[in-house]
Amino acid sequence: MCGIVGYIGPKKAADVLVNGLERLSYRGYDSAGVAVMDEKGRLAVRKTKGKLEQLKRLLEESPVDGCTGIGHTRWATHGEPSDLNAHPHTDVKGGIAVVHNGIIENHEALRKHLEGCGAVFASQTDTEVIAHLLNELYDGDMLHTLLRAQGMLQGSYAIGVLCDREPDQLFCMRCDSPLVAACREGEGFLASDVPALLSHTRDVVFLQDRQVGVLSRQGLRVIDEYGQACEPSFFHVEWDQSSAEKGGFAHYMLKEIHEQPTALQNTFAPRSRLGDFQWLPLSEDTACRLRRITIVACGTAYHAGVMGKYALEQLARIPTEVDIASEYRYRQPPVGENELLIAISQSGETADTLAALREAKRRGASVLAICNAVGSTITREAGEENTLYTYAGPEIAVASTKAYVTQTEMMIMIAVALGVMRNTLSMERAEALYQSLRELPSKAADTLGLEGRLQQIASRMSSRKHVFFVGRSVDYALSMEAALKLKEVSYLFSEAYAAGELKHGPIALLKPGRLVVACVTQPRVLEKMLANLQEVRARGAEVLAVCPDALAQQVRPQADELIVIPDTDEWLAPLLAAIPLQLFAYCMAVARGCDVDQPRNLAKSVTVE
Ligand code: AGP
Repeated sequence: MCGIVGYIGPKKAADVLVNGLERLSYRGYDSAGVAVMDEKGRLAVRKTKGKLEQLKRLLEESPVDGCTGIGHTRWATHGEPSDLNAHPHTDVKGGIAVVHNGIIENHEALRKHLEGCGAVFASQTDTEVIAHLLNELYDGDMLHTLLRAQGMLQGSYAIGVLCDREPDQLFCMRCDSPLVAACREGEGFLASDVPALLSHTRDVVFLQDRQVGVLSRQGLRVIDEYGQACEPSFFHVEWDQSSAEKGGFAHYMLKEIHEQPTALQNTFAPRSRLGDFQWLPLSEDTACRLRRITIVACGTAYHAGVMGKYALEQLARIPTEVDIASEYRYRQPPVGENELLIAISQSGETADTLAALREAKRRGASVLAICNAVGSTITREAGEENTLYTYAGPEIAVASTKAYVTQTEMMIMIAVALGVMRNTLSMERAEALYQSLRELPSKAADTLGLEGRLQQIASRMSSRKHVFFVGRSVDYALSMEAALKLKEVSYLFSEAYAAGELKHGPIALLKPGRLVVACVTQPRVLEKMLANLQEVRARGAEVLAVCPDALAQQVRPQADELIVIPDTDEWLAPLLAAIPLQLFAYCMAVARGCDVDQPRNLAKSVTVE
């Protein structure tokens, strides 16, 4: 997510803006900038790729005076990190400046329309369309213009706007992306998150969707989408700076678990028109000729790849291998024609995955990267045109959660697209899957409600020494991820087994008191799973099962604890089930007093081999 700040008052705006951006810098960013209305009512923009240090240097070299401004730290989604793609963006005359957090889903159509009206674009960003659109619609009243623009903008946005024809006001508007405003004697403040405001005031207004805020030295006005004035409801923030950076959550991991509905929505939405597979950089001809896909990744990304294998083979009928990246690069893989290598990486900087990607390219494979970090090394190695971005936003906790669910979601979308293109998946089945993808964010939000239940279970089980995770088919892939989550944040020995493999050895480890977490989301293997649970309980082990509502009646007799998730398509059920299992790992780690966000010995991005 990007950082937004705004200020209007007696102080030098540039100083207030940079200070505010520094308090948002924990979110991760790749460029920064400010726009300030100078004493003559002219808009001055200073922006640069890199960190706030670079912006400060730029402001020293080329100062901007003025007491009204907006600032931004960018986490790139559309367009690589660069000076030109940094915010603020302006219209061609430089009379309107915009900073934005979110994704404008119809930015390409708007860009075409606006270019047809004479707009000249300077950047690759979706944000720039907002500045040109506001200029196109401007009728002398920016508030009215913003209300009209709402009807043309699709997607998520939190925006700050300056207009040189209305220099004594700072405008803001939001839809599906947070914005918080504040005012006190003669000053007005705007931010995308509370930490940027705490040094000024603790009384803030969280703007609601489709509201427009107008900040001036006289205070804050809030107008709803119908143009009606609303009474701003002030909230007194009790958080300290640290908890404010986590949005009030105790840890980044928990905050990011709760961000998953938005992450899923943002990743699906730009690709949500079934049949329009332009987003997949493979022609129909290439798709039909594909003989094999190899997926390479590490850790959690590898587990998303295992899920992808099942989907690609069953939905697109493409033989698919999944390899741990550090193994792939040394096994001298034979690579023939019409083969594709998919590299999955949240950070885009994982050395082993990068090396595997290079090895595959060297052997002649076509490549595709699935990544959460725009302009990272792996995306540059694969080529921007061969990169599919998950839009999970910055993932700060070492334990990957929202990146995992969006990687898995992306794999399923690729499998559906290839299945339709190769005619191995009916449009009817594809539409049913897409409908389930549309409903997934709200079901993910419902699943977050299980947190309290998981806390209870974890407090009872936190002293366990060894934990088994079992599942069949895609639930086996889920078990791998759930075991890694628990292992890396709670330091508990936890291992995933294919449930059918238990009797080939691992069941020797079972004894009274052992905890077995069972992933039971797949109707097709339900009977076999129930039999496995009977075997497990016959040895005295305790079973914590996760299953969809439709299977609960059959699973309940075989489980000591049962976590029920909303029903969804069988391909998406493991993705939903991942959420309570992430919460279980989180609660176990907290109960055991572990360092949840920075577990011992681990780094967020493993850039060494
Ligand atoms: C997952 O929780 C871990 N942080 C780790 O396994 C991670 O998934 C792995 O290092 C791969 O990182 P990447 O996705 O950035 O390539």
